[in-house]
Amino acid sequence: MPLARSLSVTSLSGLEDWDEEFDLENAVLFEIAWEVANKVGGIYTVIQTKARLTAEEWGENYFLVGPYVESNVRTQVELIEPTNPELKRTIDKMNSSGCKYAAQSEEPPHVVAHFHEWLAGLGLVLCRHRQLPVATIFTTHATLLGRYLCAGNVDFYNNLAEFNLDKEAGDRQIYHRYCLERAAAHCAHVFTTVSQITAIEAEHLLKRKPDIVTPNGLNVKKFSAVHEFQNLHAQSKNRIQEFIRGHFYGHLDFNLDKCLFLFIAGRYEFSNKGADIFLEALARLNYLLRVNHSDVTVIAFFIMPARTNNFNVETLKGQAVRKQLWDTAHTVKERFGKKLYESLLVGQLPDVSKMLDKEDFTIMKRAIFATQRQCQPPICTHNMLEDSSDPILNCVRRIGLFNSSADRVKIIFHPEFLSSTSPLLPMDYEEFVRGCHLGVFPSYYEPWGYTPAECTVMGIPSVSTNLSGFGCFMEEHIADPSAYGTFLYICYTFNCLNMQHFTSYLLSTGIYILDRRRQRIIQRNRTERLSDLLDWRYLGRYYTAARHMALAKAFPDTYIYEPQEPTSTTGFRYPRPASVPPSPALSRHSSPHHSEAEDNDDEDERYDEDLEAEKDRVNIRQPYTPPLKNKSPGNSNGITRS
Ligand code: UDP
Ligand code: G6P
Ligand code: GLC
Repeated sequence: MPLARSLSVTSLSGLEDWDEEFDLENAVLFEIAWEVANKVGGIYTVIQTKARLTAEEWGENYFLVGPYVESNVRTQVELIEPTNPELKRTIDKMNSSGCKYAAQSEEPPHVVAHFHEWLAGLGLVLCRHRQLPVATIFTTHATLLGRYLCAGNVDFYNNLAEFNLDKEAGDRQIYHRYCLERAAAHCAHVFTTVSQITAIEAEHLLKRKPDIVTPNGLNVKKFSAVHEFQNLHAQSKNRIQEFIRGHFYGHLDFNLDKCLFLFIAGRYEFSNKGADIFLEALARLNYLLRVNHSDVTVIAFFIMPARTNNFNVETLKGQAVRKQLWDTAHTVKERFGKKLYESLLVGQLPDVSKMLDKEDFTIMKRAIFATQRQCQPPICTHNMLEDSSDPILNCVRRIGLFNSSADRVKIIFHPEFLSSTSPLLPMDYEEFVRGCHLGVFPSYYEPWGYTPAECTVMGIPSVSTNLSGFGCFMEEHIADPSAYGTFLYICYTFNCLNMQHFTSYLLSTGIYILDRRRQRIIQRNRTERLSDLLDWRYLGRYYTAARHMALAKAFPDTYIYEPQEPTSTTGFRYPRPASVPPSPALSRHSSPHHSEAEDNDDEDERYDEDLEAEKDRVNIRQPYTPPLKNKSPGNSNGITRS
């Protein structure tokens, strides 16, 4: 039997000829993870977005196993009786005997058990220890030690080969977890991870080279009209603007139409996720915008869950005041309308000076009085339990960005994942991202990083680093990522991220490019065109390959794994958009005399023109329509029954 060889994402084309038509009838797939129907971070997104594709392949023989959390079960799971009689017998037996494993089938199926992350790894180790007839896969979405070392300000990437692993794990009191992770990686028939950069890390820290890299995908929504996602941006932005009106009540001395919304989001790992460098860059950006008397206001959101005891009063009050002003305006409008109507009914044009009476003015004065505020608009939307030691708040205190009127950069820290049922900002995360202008993710440690990937498929530009799996993936497959809105901050030194350098990077590539509406619209169009590259329909094949390998290793009498040599060693690269110059910042109007107002008036027509012009010159979608082919009968490439 040919041994499974290691596949890297460079050899994308190598998997195009995989045989999907192999017999899974007597095979069952279990995927086990702590984040099944349990949102903590990106692993939840992997499982949740991949489920549809995997279910298409495995049908009723696909099972996800996760922790039983009552609230999640109620909101995310539909309870059903198992239709598979063997499974039903097994579950009944497990229930009656206090959850013990029982193989009930007369002709046992071939089981693939795919474990994610060290928390589920114990199951894998026990499967192997008890010599269960199961093909096992272990996918690690990070290494524990890597995460801890990076969070501790270590020069990680330059010292990967040097760490005394047991000592480092012991010093950080994660030795037992580290051993579990390492054991799972070594026991698995197939070991995988989510990016090349984490594959290298795993080889050094877990001492096993992953057999295959399984990059993370998403379910890409296709809109029938190209405008549709742009319209969604405008709708969501309006809702964010409403929130801003409330949050900054009494201090709305900036032009909302000239506001750029930037954000960072994810699990709260202050330095690993680059929240530290983002804050420092914002402080410098604030200074530069102020000295240049810029009329642009940047509002930076930090969406990172921390320990809180609910929203704070000042923040809720802001939305209440906004609502009150809205109601007041409506009341006065109604009264005004009634007087106008009555005047027209008797055939008279109204006397405009009498349209608003004393009572109207009193209502309005009262409403305006309610908007008076003694304090600055809050930085944080919630009451923090660890306010004095919170890293974001402490950094804000140090750099002095307190949402004052003079500041051109304002900060809003929302220490809870977003939800459409929130009384404060009732938007789910996807809606929120669509309404923003730029995601900023200057991560130092990021095995993949879903947040910039999600931006890309929604057509929102983002800043990422070449220390993140996603950033490396884009760098590898796109000739000029920034032309497509993936602004890649290259950490030349692989050392600490350089604050000053990052600020100028953010300025030159991010803010300046996004300074004009027309440029932003073009940039969003370009960004969205990369979404096929990140679709599970395309990336799901790496998971398929991993399962094939595992089946062949565990059941060599039944399955053969013969991977094809890649047809190309370099893989495909998206070319630069043909409409040079590469960045829309440099694209000029055909007329030298134009105004921002003109920009807005005929922008839709122009971005269509731009889009069409680019489409004519380079058909970039075409190579990424899912290129899966079925093999002709008798061809034994890929995995087949022997
Ligand atoms: N996310 C979310 N709600 C929010 C903010 C973030 O569901 O309000 C999700 C986001 O969609 C992404 C995940 O959190 O899928 C973060 O994953 P990522 O891989 O970027 O980082 P991780 O936190 O797993 O390290
Ligand atoms: C979309 C809409 C436009 C709107 C624009 C706002 O492109 O189709 O009608 O003007 O969003 O873009 P901005 O980048 O200023 O938020
Ligand atoms: C982990 C990593 C993140 C990755 C996610 C899904 O949480 O920190 O970078 O995107 O897993 O693989």
